[in-house]
Amino acid sequence: MNGGELAKIAQAMVVKNKGILAADESSSTIKKRFDGIKLESTEEHRRTYREMLFTAPGAAEYISGVILYDETIRQKAKDGTPFPELLSKKGIIPGIKVDTGAKPLAGFKNETITEGLDGLRERLVEYHKLGARFAKWRAVIDIADGIPTSFAIDANAHALARYAALCQENGIVPIVEPEVLMDGGHSIERCEEVTSAVLQSVFNQLFEHRILLEGMVLKPNMVISGKKAANRANAEAVAAATVRTLKRHVPPAVPGIAFLSGGQSSAEATLHLSLMNKLGPLPWALTFSYGRALQDDALKSWGGNAANFAAGQKEMAKRAKLNSLATTGSYQSSMESQAA
Ligand code: 13P
Repeated sequence: MNGGELAKIAQAMVVKNKGILAADESSSTIKKRFDGIKLESTEEHRRTYREMLFTAPGAAEYISGVILYDETIRQKAKDGTPFPELLSKKGIIPGIKVDTGAKPLAGFKNETITEGLDGLRERLVEYHKLGARFAKWRAVIDIADGIPTSFAIDANAHALARYAALCQENGIVPIVEPEVLMDGGHSIERCEEVTSAVLQSVFNQLFEHRILLEGMVLKPNMVISGKKAANRANAEAVAAATVRTLKRHVPPAVPGIAFLSGGQSSAEATLHLSLMNKLGPLPWALTFSYGRALQDDALKSWGGNAANFAAGQKEMAKRAKLNSLATTGSYQSSMESQAA
């Protein structure tokens, strides 16, 4: 595939006023989410839930792409339309999670390496046939005493770059996701230091692996205090530290950066994105690729009850709209209390 087509897809993923819905929870993660609403994680419940999100009236206006899971990309809406086709018809680009999870890194206590490279070329060919035009691979970096080690950072960056190269070879735009977790009690300064080291290692590896920067999207964490930190930095400090760190390490050739929410509340994730966009002009589009921060309210409103299908969709559309406003810095916290 020529680079121009990859670049075109990447630009469409981060186009003005839109962002990405991450709906690629693995079977074990979606079970955890359903446990929260006391719903059994059956294939049909997972299918219904995803259909509720994908067909939420009004949401398509604010959503450029959806990240699917292997099971989901093969599922169909109630009327028999395969999900990738249903999304494409709405102008939403289908994407696919292709890593197989973060596993313990042998010899490095409490650190992980993301797996999924073996056979990836063949899986990408199949996913492309199923309609996927972008993919996602998540590396996980935890902060605690003595970790992360530079070895674990580099090993994960290397795997991310190998994944990205295989994607581009097969006409699929890689979302490169190095997530520094916000679990734990670390300060925002420590998060900034680790995020800097991680992004530098990732872009070193992307360069070594000859990745076309114009044909990728970066999905990083925000620079933020740990959840259990005593004095958590305020929203303005998060926005300033995140933009500063990205400017230091992300080349302007990358068309867009789509954040993960990582355990922030929905309103926090939206506010942070909006404040960052107010700090512009920036060399790349800054948007969202949220999972929990887009879905939590919708999941709760639905509660697994068919009678609440429309109520869940309303919440989905509301969060999509508020995050869309955040991509231009025009979201206000007071909008949270207004009707969807
Ligand atoms: P969260 O926004 O819930 O962190 O999920 C985004 C994602 O895709 C993590 O890989």
